[in-house]
Amino acid sequence: MLNTQKRLKLQHFLTIKNLQNEQVNSLIERAEYFKAGGKVLNYEQPVYAVNMFFENSTRTHCSFEMAERKLGIETIPFDPAASSVKKGETLYDTLLALNSIGVELAVIRHPHNEYYRKLVNLSAAQKLNIGIINAGDGSGQHPSQSLLDMMTIHEQFGGFKRLKVAIIGDLTNSRVARSNMRLLKQLGAEVYFSGPEYWYSQEFAEYGTYGKVDDLLDQMDVVMLLRVQHERHQQETAFSTERYHQQYGLTLERYERLKKQAIIMHPGPINRGVELASELVEASQSRFTTQMQNGVFMRMAMIEAVVEGRNLGGKR
Ligand code: CP
Repeated sequence: MLNTQKRLKLQHFLTIKNLQNEQVNSLIERAEYFKAGGKVLNYEQPVYAVNMFFENSTRTHCSFEMAERKLGIETIPFDPAASSVKKGETLYDTLLALNSIGVELAVIRHPHNEYYRKLVNLSAAQKLNIGIINAGDGSGQHPSQSLLDMMTIHEQFGGFKRLKVAIIGDLTNSRVARSNMRLLKQLGAEVYFSGPEYWYSQEFAEYGTYGKVDDLLDQMDVVMLLRVQHERHQQETAFSTERYHQQYGLTLERYERLKKQAIIMHPGPINRGVELASELVEASQSRFTTQMQNGVFMRMAMIEAVVEGRNLGGKR
């Protein structure tokens, strides 16, 4: 199987903000090639990576690790709780240590927005030389989730132009929503927002329109539900899961009103019975498991772009 398209080459993969449409399409094509069983490049020399997750994760962490293994990359184990970060070592100094012992790529999830700035804007005197792949920064960006979502939509509809996509739920705290609203608009989709008005902000108005769940659902091609992120709420007043589900969630009754070709998506982890009825997680119009499956292939494409951009692995 051939994949002849010119591949993306990057020093770091930090955000979707600078990606051109043709670069997004190139990543989707490469990920679809991997999914179809396309061969990976054979690196002449080993490439060493580390996955550093300072926030909990199941699918992003494990699928980056799976992607690394499929690419033939050696992964060095790193557990923040057992590391010298606990003795006060900074993120920069931790990476300087890992880089000094031979690590060339770091996949990082961190609670601070744009934690990576200090790692990539270096003075001439600084010796850090490591490719950073952002696995989620605070409420900032989640590039790999966003790109695997675009792959999943592309797989279903073959493109993005004029698709109607509703992003529903905890918008304020969602790095997935921030990444997706921008990329979807850029790719030509029509973005709508819904959920509690107190989680909608005017900063989103440049990307789409806010509407009530019941006014939107039957017109949408894609219904993207967001997890209620209790851990990021400063002062949460009594939250009723049942009330949220009835007012804003995808209930069985609302599911029946979706267009037959519409898909439902959720980045995970899901609060069953809150954002959507538990029975809908694996329903025929749900793409929840497809998203997680696609995540491995998209992350392979992203890692490969940084390996290529930094000329790692010797000749191929
Ligand atoms: N979607 C997502 O980021 O899930 P994890 O937190 O499990 O990685």
